Amino acid sequence: MLEKLKTQIRHSKDLSYQMRTAHELMRKFLSISFLITFIIFFFVTFINATTASSEDIANSCIQCHSNPAFRITNKKLYKYYRDWELSIHALEKVTCVDCHGGNENSNDKEEAHGKEIQQLLTPVKYERISETCGKCHEENAQNYKKSKHYRILTEKSGSSRLTPTCVTCHSSINTSIPKPEDIADICTSCHNPVTENHPEVPELAGYLIERLSFINYYTRYLISRGVMKEDPQFSKTINEEFSGLSQTWHTLELDRIEEKSLKIRTMLLQRRKELEEK
Ligand code: HEC
Ligand code: HEC
Ligand code: HEC
Ligand code: HEC
Ligand code: HEC
Repeated sequence: MLEKLKTQIRHSKDLSYQMRTAHELMRKFLSISFLITFIIFFFVTFINATTASSEDIANSCIQCHSNPAFRITNKKLYKYYRDWELSIHALEKVTCVDCHGGNENSNDKEEAHGKEIQQLLTPVKYERISETCGKCHEENAQNYKKSKHYRILTEKSGSSRLTPTCVTCHSSINTSIPKPEDIADICTSCHNPVTENHPEVPELAGYLIERLSFINYYTRYLISRGVMKEDPQFSKTINEEFSGLSQTWHTLELDRIEEKSLKIRTMLLQRRKELEEK
């Protein structure tokens, strides 16, 4: 339509015709702008309405579980909600249904819980947790599945919890990366002189995690001194060497972590020395 109007103007040489066309154009313009305003108004209202209502419904789990009344009537239940609220997963908009299943569109408890929230079928059942977390943390889960921990978990299922799964080392909802002071505790519950199951593991694991935080620390230091920017090749090498390490934790190749982390540590220290000698 606009194209047609333009050609009409272009082709007319007669002034009055042009005036008329201009007048017509104005009228058309006004009606078009009215229409556009109306369309925008309609969409804004419509979109507002749908987001408002989809927020209400999409978070039926959160809406109900966040009820402060549970603080008194069901403290334990409320704590799970708080755990989620403070977690990196909440920050990343990973919500209850992503790990528990169920129907987030229903405000009715039974309907929202459905079959998936039942003890036997729940995706957060110990033996199934690595699948559930693995939907998003694919590489970690794949590597975990290569470990002896996973093999025993699946081969001897029924007598479950003989070996750790994701939540043993990372906690369940408010997950974190184990710190040096946690790691020894996590491993010691099974690896100790009484069980005679690789009793050397906790000390080694604690030591290796400490070395990783050391590496993190010195990497940040060299970044702050501009070294990584000035030498992109060095930065790339460090990154590549480092990125494989967290996966190696999942396959349980502690000797490889030992070897690789030592290599990175040496490279970083060498750089620091050069920097200080300058
Ligand atoms: C209308 C309120 C309400 C809604 C909606 C709701 N829950 Fe619950 N949920 C509860 C209450 C209350 C409990 C405590 C146990 C019970 O009463 O069944 C509970 C228990 C649970 C449990 C523990 C399982 C158990 O058997 O104790 C999980 C997991 C859970 N809810 C997840 C969810 C998820 C995921 C959603 C959304 C898909 C959801 N809930 C929606 C009220 C609700
Ligand atoms: C990142 C995954 C994840 C998210 C997100 C998550 N949960 Fe969980 N939740 C778990 C895991 C795993 C367990 C099993 C506990 C265990 O074995 O340590 C669990 C356990 C629970 C339990 C205890 C009962 C049971 O089934 O064992 C409740 C209640 C619960 N979660 C509620 C919620 C609610 C409500 C939300 C959302 C506000 C939520 N969770 C979000 C992973 C998650
Ligand atoms: C729906 C996707 C999703 C699911 C399911 C999920 N996560 Fe996450 N998780 C994320 C995202 C996104 C992040 C933040 C980005 C990142 O660090 O990868 C994250 C971060 C993490 C972190 C890093 C925390 C930190 O401090 O850096 C850990 C550990 C973790 N998740 C463990 C788990 C565990 C254990 C489960 C299963 C109980 C799980 N996740 C289930 C998406 C998910
Ligand atoms: C035996 C303990 C253990 C188990 C079991 C375990 N992890 Fe980890 N995970 C670690 C350690 C230790 C690190 C930290 C390594 C580092 O600092 O580089 C880590 C790092 C991570 C990270 C953050 C770094 C990254 O790779 O993005 C995520 C996410 C993660 N693990 C997810 C999982 C999931 C999912 C599972 C289950 C399939 C799992 N982990 C099982 C010990 C474990
Ligand atoms: C719930 C118990 C449990 C926890 C917690 C646990 N492990 Fe294990 N781990 C086992 C069992 C069982 C085996 C198998 C022992 C065997 O038959 O050799 C094993 C084996 C190992 C092995 C030998 C793997 C191989 O391929 O031979 C390493 C290494 C190991 N664990 C490291 C760790 C670390 C590191 C932690 C803590 C971050 C940890 N484990 C926490 C139960 C556990």
